Amino acid sequence: MIRSLLKKKSSNPIRKRCDNDDFTRLRKRYEIWYNILQDQRGTRVFKDGKELVMLASNEYLGLYDHPKVIEAGKKALEKWGGGTMGARSANGGRHFHIELEERLAAFLGKEACHVSSAGYLSCMSSITGFARRGDAVFVDKNMHSSVWDGIRLSMADVERFGHNNPEHLRTLLEQLDPGISKILAIEGIYSMEGHICNLPDFTAIAQEFDCFTVMDDAHGLGVLGKQGRGTANHFGLTDQVDIITGSLSKSLGSTGGFIAGDAASIEYLRTHSKQVIFSAALSPCQTACAMAALNVMENEPEWLEKLWANTKRYKAFLDELELDTWESETPAIPIIIGDREKAYHFWKNLREKGVFAIFATAPGVPPGKDLVRTAISARHSEADFEIIENAIRYAVSRM
Ligand SMILES: Cc1ncc(COP(=O)(O)O)c(C=O)c1O
Repeated sequence: MIRSLLKKKSSNPIRKRCDNDDFTRLRKRYEIWYNILQDQRGTRVFKDGKELVMLASNEYLGLYDHPKVIEAGKKALEKWGGGTMGARSANGGRHFHIELEERLAAFLGKEACHVSSAGYLSCMSSITGFARRGDAVFVDKNMHSSVWDGIRLSMADVERFGHNNPEHLRTLLEQLDPGISKILAIEGIYSMEGHICNLPDFTAIAQEFDCFTVMDDAHGLGVLGKQGRGTANHFGLTDQVDIITGSLSKSLGSTGGFIAGDAASIEYLRTHSKQVIFSAALSPCQTACAMAALNVMENEPEWLEKLWANTKRYKAFLDELELDTWESETPAIPIIIGDREKAYHFWKNLREKGVFAIFATAPGVPPGKDLVRTAISARHSEADFEIIENAIRYAVSRM
């Protein structure tokens, strides 16, 4: 009681900031984010007793509940328990980490790999592990926040270029002292926009100006390239990308992250990245699920085929309705509404008709690009499409 009275009267500026934050108030008023789901099965999720078609999963191949993934997770949990006791640098390393790293490295066409307990950590380390004060990082302005955080922590100088714009990158590089060490940071598939990176032009410029190239391929793995080997494989440019980083939480149906590159770079990262050195190792269950999903990706090509067939069908439907999809070329497909209130109502109408999508507004997207972000899964069925198409027609009719 005394403590709660003291708390109310506190003039602590941080407490005041938390109590009076307009963004938090706005977030809570709209109840759009931090949804709690009661159940999930295939492409269906359950919220407040209502069944919804999930149209916003980044888990594009739909392997999270594949019988082989579930079986592998169960076995790992029974054998090893829930955790790993510590960081890889200390007591957390297990042979299953090495097995997953070797398999992922081979799959991606790289010599070595390091897995972490979140994609966010891996993507941060892809910069903090290599860049330092005095270096310059050139980064796409729409890059994921994990990489931006890595850049800030690295203390390197930063130059941002226009989204997916190699010519702007070239202009910036031409102005830099050639003696400065340079890193280029790009994404394979930009998650909000669904754009595929213009890798051939970027790697040509990186070679010309001697940039160490880091690509976050969280959304390209499982979606592009032979068997889903990612964006670098899709363009046949794996050798031109020094570091491929990403997440185990998208097409690999688990959670966690990875960084792949040549053996010397990965060993250097293990010495220098604090996110690698001081964070607990990936859990046995997460590791086993990702490994099983990787096996499925290699041995069951039908999931990738179905993903692209579903994407084509869905994109044709959106085009027929003349919706603006920001020229997405991939299963990550935004519907641009361009106005916060209108986008919110579009999102709400989809929800009313049984579809789960994501509402995104500035500063999460550029001003005027307020959108409803949707994503296609290999698992979407005829019955799912009936609900999706009906809901989108309804939302459009009420715009
Ligand atoms: C492009 C990109 N990079 C990194 C991450 C972080 O991955 P994780 O969710 O596994 O931490 C995400 C997740 O949304 C992402 O979209």
